[in-house]
Amino acid sequence: MSEQVIAPRFRGFIGLTTHPEGCAASVRRQLQVVRERCPGSGLGTILVIGSSTGYGLGSLLTGVFGYGAKGLGVCFERPPKDPKTGSPGWYNLAEAQVQASAEGRQLETIVGDAFSNEIKEQTITALKERFGPIDCVVYSLAAPKRLDPSNGTLYSSVLKPVGSSYTGKSIDLRDYSIGEVTIDPASEDEILATQKVMGGEDWQIWMERLADVGLLAPGCRTVAYSYIGPEVTYPIYRSGTIGKAKEHLEATAQHLDSVLQKHCQGNAWVSVNKALVTQASSAIPVVPLYISLLFKVMKEKGTHEGTIEQAVRLFNDHLAPDKSPTLDSEGRIRLDDREMDPAVQQAVAELWKQVNSDNLTQLADLDGYQSDFHALFGFGLPEVDYSQATEVDRPV
Ligand code: NAI
Repeated sequence: MSEQVIAPRFRGFIGLTTHPEGCAASVRRQLQVVRERCPGSGLGTILVIGSSTGYGLGSLLTGVFGYGAKGLGVCFERPPKDPKTGSPGWYNLAEAQVQASAEGRQLETIVGDAFSNEIKEQTITALKERFGPIDCVVYSLAAPKRLDPSNGTLYSSVLKPVGSSYTGKSIDLRDYSIGEVTIDPASEDEILATQKVMGGEDWQIWMERLADVGLLAPGCRTVAYSYIGPEVTYPIYRSGTIGKAKEHLEATAQHLDSVLQKHCQGNAWVSVNKALVTQASSAIPVVPLYISLLFKVMKEKGTHEGTIEQAVRLFNDHLAPDKSPTLDSEGRIRLDDREMDPAVQQAVAELWKQVNSDNLTQLADLDGYQSDFHALFGFGLPEVDYSQATEVDRPV
């Protein structure tokens, strides 16, 4: 037992402390959405790679609590080590497991590097011993680096434009002012490295390995997450290094789809999701400003969703075994339909032209951005009394 009073400390887009009870409360909030909107049963077994935060956590909670699946998650998180708190994903999964065992549900977590052969084999052993073949695999990794076990090369992803340098507006998350950033174009090596980390290669390795050992159930469905976004973010996102990696991920989905159809009458898709505040997206230049303008417009229209609402809609409308997903002309699921609504995009584009440090708080939903960002680390939840000491040692 180790109880502490924990104050928020941030450096730019990095949280230096995490509030365990705040993370637990945030998971309980997400579970409330799942319980209200999902059928409660319908899925046998789910494996989520990148299960501890953001879209992966939402997918795991939806599969296990919303569809009654046995759930195995893989993630890379830091346990508490005196005097430091654990990372947010650690506490998210600690609470998810408390809730699961209270309801007699099977939910397990493997903490380690999903890119490594060791973690893949550990996952296969757990599946063979305690789960059986999988009905749904969600691939939701967002990682800065990948050590490729086939050749020992360490690849680092970069967030840079391709071809020419880019200058544009961006929020400085240290003081929430708007400045101009200039980012030089990526080298060929950086483009390739980003594709190695965030493209589809590792997803394909996972799926082929699971197929080889007979762990894909008949009709198994797998999904990975992509993003497109508006023109203002193209240079840094869709036409940049990360966009090249997403193109690779999307091409991998098409390849995996034909492999799985032959192997087990299964399917592989990419789902293009909405821009949301997560640890991954807050690290991308330009995107946090776009997100805070987008939130303003979508909340006014009543079409705003968070990661859990997106995950629930993905399963309810597309991914559940009894659903046939609606696909775009490129074969992708589009959960970004409400974000990309032309009226929404036109309103955001107008705000984008006008926004500066002086009018930022009026034009953008800065409060919404900040509170979502703080909530990633368990801070700012109204139901939590932050003056009280909270248990830091929570098991996963
Ligand atoms: P996140 O940062 O919240 O989650 C990343 C997950 O990956 C965590 O569970 C983390 O533990 C895990 N992870 C990272 N490195 C790992 C490693 N080496 N081994 C095992 N686990 C590891 O990120 P977010 O935003 O939920 O992103 C997930 C996917 O969704 C990414 O492909 C991202 O590009 C995509 N996406 C995100 C959008 C956004 O606005 N946040 C929008 C559309 C797509």
